[in-house]
Amino acid sequence: MSEDRYAAAAAGWATGAARVYGPLATQLVAATPHPLAGRRVLDAGAGTGLASAALRTVGARPVALDRSRPMLARDAPARPPAVVGALEALPLRDGAVDDAVAAFALNHVDEPVAALAELARVVRRGGAVLATVAAATTAHRAVRDRIDAVVADAGFTPPGWYAHLTTVQAPQLGSAPTMGAAARAAGLVVVDVTERPADVGVERAEDLVDYRLGQAHVAAWLAGLSAGERAALRRAALDAVAPVMAPYRPPVVTLVARTA
Ligand SMILES: C[S@@+](CC[C@H](N)C(=O)[O-])C[C@H]1O[C@@H](n2cnc3c(N)ncnc32)[C@H](O)[C@@H]1O
Repeated sequence: MSEDRYAAAAAGWATGAARVYGPLATQLVAATPHPLAGRRVLDAGAGTGLASAALRTVGARPVALDRSRPMLARDAPARPPAVVGALEALPLRDGAVDDAVAAFALNHVDEPVAALAELARVVRRGGAVLATVAAATTAHRAVRDRIDAVVADAGFTPPGWYAHLTTVQAPQLGSAPTMGAAARAAGLVVVDVTERPADVGVERAEDLVDYRLGQAHVAAWLAGLSAGERAALRRAALDAVAPVMAPYRPPVVTLVARTA
């Protein structure tokens, strides 16, 4: 299996990035075309389990899959059953689950149509496939970019995979038309595909900074700083963001599809 980009990210994801990705997971699950209560739902690219938690809240029976063992290990005793595996070759038989969600995971693969086809394969006939990715549009990121500038000034250089993610992988599904086309090419029936800013309730600079510093690309570098250096970095990021802070509305592409 290819490299684990999230090997050092579990704690930051669960305590920081979750401020944005938690509400987004809830919104993705709410987009379902049919009630999920009682249904077995694959949480593909589950990470620390934000979508699994949202699925449980609506009464579904999630099963989590991720290639990152440390992400799945986070709070594991309280989480649904999980398996280490790849989106590109799901270790499940055809029709094994009733539905599937993939929250901000399909943007990490080189061949998203093949990954969507895998989801289509393992979801039984008529089941839902729900997916989100970040939209490719960048205009909204001016405030968040201030955090990145502070981190860069402190000596951070992104790992090689981050450039591949942002310039090659993520743009493939980064708009409603490209997501819709990929889903159809994978044999799915598109019920709805949207691209719009999401209200995630992040209005304080603290929440935006902790979200951004909780993401995977900075995790290993942050772990190499002392506690004092991390605190100083966070203060500098807060100082940079506070004067211009506005409600964070990340543009999100959401796919609502079902298997044929
Ligand atoms: C942006 S995180 C999203 C985690 C979670 N779905 C959420 O919304 O909080 C992406 C997750 O996808 C996983 N992932 C990335 N590429 C993968 C692949 N090819 N196969 C399986 N999991 C993958 C990562 O390990 C990570 O946990």
